[in-house]
Amino acid sequence: MAKVTDKIIINGKTVKNRITMAPTVKFDFAGPDGMVTEKHISHYTERAEGGAGLICVEATAVTPDGRFAPNHLGLWEDAQTEGHKRIVDACHKNDVVVLIQLNHTGITANPMFGTIIGPSAVPTRSGELSKEMSKEEIRSMQESFVSAALRAKEAGYDGIQLHGCHGYLINQFISPKTNLRTDEYGENKALFAKEIIQEVRERCGKEFIISVRTPGAEPDVQHAINIAKEYVSAGCDYLQVSHGIDSFGVNLKAESEPYSDLCALGVNFHPEFKGTVPVSCVGGLMTPELIKYIIENDLADTVDLARSVLADPQFPNAVLTGSDYTKCYECRRCQYGPMTDHKCPADML
Ligand SMILES: Cc1cc2nc3c(=O)[nH]c(=O)nc-3n(C[C@H](O)[C@H](O)[C@H](O)COP(=O)(O)O)c2cc1C
Repeated sequence: MAKVTDKIIINGKTVKNRITMAPTVKFDFAGPDGMVTEKHISHYTERAEGGAGLICVEATAVTPDGRFAPNHLGLWEDAQTEGHKRIVDACHKNDVVVLIQLNHTGITANPMFGTIIGPSAVPTRSGELSKEMSKEEIRSMQESFVSAALRAKEAGYDGIQLHGCHGYLINQFISPKTNLRTDEYGENKALFAKEIIQEVRERCGKEFIISVRTPGAEPDVQHAINIAKEYVSAGCDYLQVSHGIDSFGVNLKAESEPYSDLCALGVNFHPEFKGTVPVSCVGGLMTPELIKYIIENDLADTVDLARSVLADPQFPNAVLTGSDYTKCYECRRCQYGPMTDHKCPADML
């Protein structure tokens, strides 16, 4: 029986236990230059000291127009690399494997950054149509992902994660709702990300971890699994499973199971990838008991924790050692900044 304290190897790198910190963007930490700030350093240092075996640094924009908002971390130019070295150092000092999630918002981009592009011309949040990306724009966007990966490698990251879920650009390419193309990027919906994976592998080397965070259903489970298998065949080493555009209402678990429907998406992926790549699940894993249940019953290889580690950086150590912790209130105030007062109530205790 696997234990939460067991090591796991991901593309030759030893992750000291089965707990990973999920990417969680901190809107108010970066300025318009997208640089790492002291706030990022102390935030990730505290969490690197908290016991997780792997940290995936938050969604980081590969081009300025792919940001959520002006105060969003970026890796679109060389000057942004330096600050990341300090996040990496903090993680490595604590024996934490560290990845960075690379993203472009695509049709969900903030209109303040200009023309909204995507795989196809479909309605954006404002109701206007997005601009279908030309082949040149696809190539240039892929190059932006690869260049950001090269900067991540230069900063010392153990690897990157492509943000392939939650409705952003890579997710838009795999969804039949947002990818209406009739060319090869429409025929093979995995192709856009596949070509990025192949090029990152070629230019960042065989030891660099390539992870994809991918939907567990998009629009259905089988399509999502087929897409992820293409990612793995292209060189992806590690899948973190979350939701996509059409993953809601997919019922994959027995009523009696203690984990969430979101978590079930990853649990359902796990047997499909056994013996090929590790699979992580996420969603409402807020207690040591539930986390141990997932690992000890071999329901996933790693557990991905977001709000619980925002509420208490030492939560992974509490899971590993049985020490006390501050429980996340699940109020989601952390998620809906910067428009609200999103201070975590756990911080104010
Ligand atoms: C404040 C906040 C920021 C988030 N930012 C990201 C992100 O940058 N990239 C991503 O893939 N998911 C992001 N998410 C989603 C989480 O990674 C995670 O999938 C979700 O919160 C469910 O996990 P939990 O129940 O452990 O919080 C964010 C969630 C929160 C609460």
